[in-house]
Amino acid sequence: MARIRISELLNDGANLIGKKIEVKGWVRAFRSKRFVQLNDGSCMANIQGVIDYDNFDEAQLKAISTGAAVCLHGTLVESQGSGQAVELQVESFDIIGAADPDAVQKTILQPKKHSLDLLREQAHLRFRTNTFGAVFRIRHAASFAVHQFFNDKGFNYIHTPILTGSDAEGAGEMFRVSTLDPKSPPLDEAGGIDYSKDFFGKQVNLTVSGQLEAELAALGLGQVYTFGPTFRAENSNTSRHLAEFWMIEPEVAFNDLFDNMDLTEEFLKYICSYILEKCVEDLNFLDQRYTQEQSQKPQKDRSDLGLIESIQFITNNDFKRLTYTEAIDVLRNSKAYKKKRFEFPVEWGVDLQSEHERYLVEKEFKCPVILSDYPADIKAFYMRQNDDGKTVAAMDVLFPGIGEIVGGSQREERLDILKSKCKDFNIDEKELWWYLETRKFGTVPHAGFGMGFERLVMFLTGMSNIRDVIPFPRARDNAEF
Ligand code: 4AD
Ligand code: MG
Repeated sequence: MARIRISELLNDGANLIGKKIEVKGWVRAFRSKRFVQLNDGSCMANIQGVIDYDNFDEAQLKAISTGAAVCLHGTLVESQGSGQAVELQVESFDIIGAADPDAVQKTILQPKKHSLDLLREQAHLRFRTNTFGAVFRIRHAASFAVHQFFNDKGFNYIHTPILTGSDAEGAGEMFRVSTLDPKSPPLDEAGGIDYSKDFFGKQVNLTVSGQLEAELAALGLGQVYTFGPTFRAENSNTSRHLAEFWMIEPEVAFNDLFDNMDLTEEFLKYICSYILEKCVEDLNFLDQRYTQEQSQKPQKDRSDLGLIESIQFITNNDFKRLTYTEAIDVLRNSKAYKKKRFEFPVEWGVDLQSEHERYLVEKEFKCPVILSDYPADIKAFYMRQNDDGKTVAAMDVLFPGIGEIVGGSQREERLDILKSKCKDFNIDEKELWWYLETRKFGTVPHAGFGMGFERLVMFLTGMSNIRDVIPFPRARDNAEF
């Protein structure tokens, strides 16, 4: 008899009634020595197995305990009880992997509400919970949707390197990769570490972004995207930062900043619609969870919308577009500013903090916002200089509850300006010779953006800590599992 997955069984229940079937999964609960709730991860719902205890001895029944892996054989019937349409009349069962009830007591497998902190400490087991089952199925669906979106538009998926000699963002938050002996590394004449003796003959780090390489590819293939891990030695121990996160970076030749904004908006709307359509059961569960969590917050911090409503809000509304300069005006004229509610300064030239971004999105415009044309000094060297000489063709997309979800720009395609930017930013032209060379041979305007995949999954699941949307989070002082 072939095993059937619970999702198929529940979708196709009507056709399977009266048939003999086999299901395998983990016991979520076993009530009255009669009703076993089995989950196999294929969906949120369990299948209920009904066991006639007179047919089995006590020891056999005892082995059906929470956390155990079992195989149930039986006939699918219409359910007698409420709560499920079909159930399995169990004729025989095998214990595939037992679970010691005393040991289970100490884990999150015990069926009751556990704090997210505890679930994080047991990240090896949290896949077995309803919440994390839903989160990781949605994470999967969203990554599939990313590929679908770009494939349908004729983009090529590019695998950019994880080990790199360049610092694309110039933020200096890179993890060094070296095979030198840390106790006695070779030294150069000045007494510094001699990386020419290292594995790659130069200093190499884990990449912070695949953008520079994606640009090279776009300047031949036309339109490309990356979807890979990126690494930042961020010291900021926040609920929105990871040291290892996944980024999606499309790059398009001949696009300007406005085309870039259109692409971002279309992309974000597509992913949101996809999840609304394909992940109904998981979203309903997380929507309830989210509403419950909101109700425990002080009134002023509560979101007006439920989880599903906030995702629908993205698909149904145009994003508000304004420049950084306009945003500074809006902020300085706000009640919050006048009443000194912002912790950080609001002045032209200063980077916006998350409190400012969230004010614009959640209080002022009450919709996603695309901010553009930031001061050159606070953005990366590769962003295209505007005619005013002070700002660059940058854009950030700000989302409710999240803040910055996307950062992008039109790139500087003019060699002379790019070279002078390298000088301003203290970047050695020799290190980036390959990047600069693309501006010598048929240079064209081009643009792209980077979306932090975990920030998107936070938005889609309503989870408020980024560590709960990646299976094994990597952050300061945290690399367990
Ligand atoms: O704004 P960032 O630094 O932009 C870039 O890396 C560009 N190279 C993108 C491009 O134009 N191709 O990062 C892009 C996005 C941010 O908007 C944010 O969503 C996410 O990456 N991000 C992080 N997510 C989790 N943890 C961190 N430490 C993150 N840093 C950035
Ligand atoms: Mg950014």
